[in-house]
Amino acid sequence: MVDQFETPLFTALKKHAEKNPIQFHIPGHKKGNGMDPDFREFIGENALSIDLINIGPLDDLHLPKGIIKQAQGLAAKAFGADYTFFSVQGTSGAIIAMIMSVCNPGDKILVPRNVHKSIMSAIVFSGAIPIFIHPEVDSYFGISHGITPDSIEKALKFHPDTRAVLVINPTYYGVSGDLKKTVKIAHSRNIPVLVDEAHGAHIHFHRDLPLSAMEAGADMAATSVHKLGGSLTQSSILNLQGKLVSPKRVQSVLSMLTTTSTSYLLLSSLDVARKSLATVGHALLEDTIRKAEETRSKINEIPHLYCMGHEVLETSAAVAMDPTKLLISVKELGVTGYDVEKWLRIRFNIEVELSDLYNILCIVTPGDTEQDLLLFIQALTELSKEYKTQVDKNVDSSVLLPEIPLLALTPRDAFYADTEVIPFEESEGRIIAEFVMVYPPGIPIFIPGEIITQDNLVYTRMNVEAGLPVQGAEDEELKSIRVIKEQLANN
Ligand SMILES: Cc1ncc(COP(=O)(O)O)c(C=O)c1O
Repeated sequence: MVDQFETPLFTALKKHAEKNPIQFHIPGHKKGNGMDPDFREFIGENALSIDLINIGPLDDLHLPKGIIKQAQGLAAKAFGADYTFFSVQGTSGAIIAMIMSVCNPGDKILVPRNVHKSIMSAIVFSGAIPIFIHPEVDSYFGISHGITPDSIEKALKFHPDTRAVLVINPTYYGVSGDLKKTVKIAHSRNIPVLVDEAHGAHIHFHRDLPLSAMEAGADMAATSVHKLGGSLTQSSILNLQGKLVSPKRVQSVLSMLTTTSTSYLLLSSLDVARKSLATVGHALLEDTIRKAEETRSKINEIPHLYCMGHEVLETSAAVAMDPTKLLISVKELGVTGYDVEKWLRIRFNIEVELSDLYNILCIVTPGDTEQDLLLFIQALTELSKEYKTQVDKNVDSSVLLPEIPLLALTPRDAFYADTEVIPFEESEGRIIAEFVMVYPPGIPIFIPGEIITQDNLVYTRMNVEAGLPVQGAEDEELKSIRVIKEQLANN
């Protein structure tokens, strides 16, 4: 336990900066002296003095042998992994490396359809063939949960040559499926389990949070320490354990995908976040969970609002939840989540994590004060009063959950196929060649290779009309869409 108080990377960086060496190396701003003074003053000398590069004494993320290796070793211990790799390219980078370390072109990978776009990108890059598993959907909130171990077992019987199983643990909304059982099923066939743990950097450190990927016995997990673990934005880790995946392969794939100019600000923030999680994480999370639960109860006393709680855990696709996530349904007020996002910004200077057609999502972390949370309750109470008149007008609180489109081509084949641009409204039945998603959460409505359906067109239009950030397509206004060119029989 004692060594978890050490921060080999951050401490060495500070010592190096204190020596104040004359720097004839990049970054060219040289401790901030060669940069815009306004920015220098704002950021501060300390941060700029450790904005360094992989010179001899500071190790190299591409071949760690010194302080980075030590910091990664401490992280591995803290997260219960055999190896931890630091990522300066977010969990997106770690996920792409994780999948490309395991899947060769043509290999099958089992994935839930509600995955983040980085997983779909990895599938395009690697040439792996996705076998989609339908997640369980929650028709009150209009969101997807996890996938059941049963559906994985069935899919594996059908596709015994599957190379890897990928699961999300927990989802953006904080819900986890039965990961232990999933691992047991996959391991009985020697298939590695890869976990998107972008929203689970903290879960390993408190028993009242869902089981972490490493605790559940999964082989790899890509974890956004920057999201809920206290490090700087863009810093993540990739954890690895067991014998099914080679650490050497992971290191070399990560290196292929990683910038050679790795940010030491990001790397050292991972070092200190790990220290904090391992040493005081449990106590901080205890307090955070209490604050979040109290806030949840108060929200549920506000008329016409509903904040998701443990009652949502009904199936093996939802066996545990992270109470620090506050998913609040606003549909009964007759407004969209996006309307509420804007209302909170304008009226209370409050920014939410995400909004969609029916909900807002807020995260509670050790960084929140009781006062912030009280103001949030006050704002929601005001919101409910202001929109109460709409409720009396018989609000339509049904939720549209479009069918998952059928895949006609592999995402990679669709991405590289001959394509053409056609009007969005005339695209039903055609095979799409680009991604369409709302970000956040970044779960694609369409991925390359899927057959465009009418209800998905309607759903996309509803998101655009509500003002939500629909991204991915070349035409930002979505008046047109890129589809696979159809060959006419006589051509
Ligand atoms: C489920 C999920 N996976 C992966 C990612 C990618 O994480 P990052 O932003 O660290 O690249 C996100 C980001 O929102 C996410 O929600």
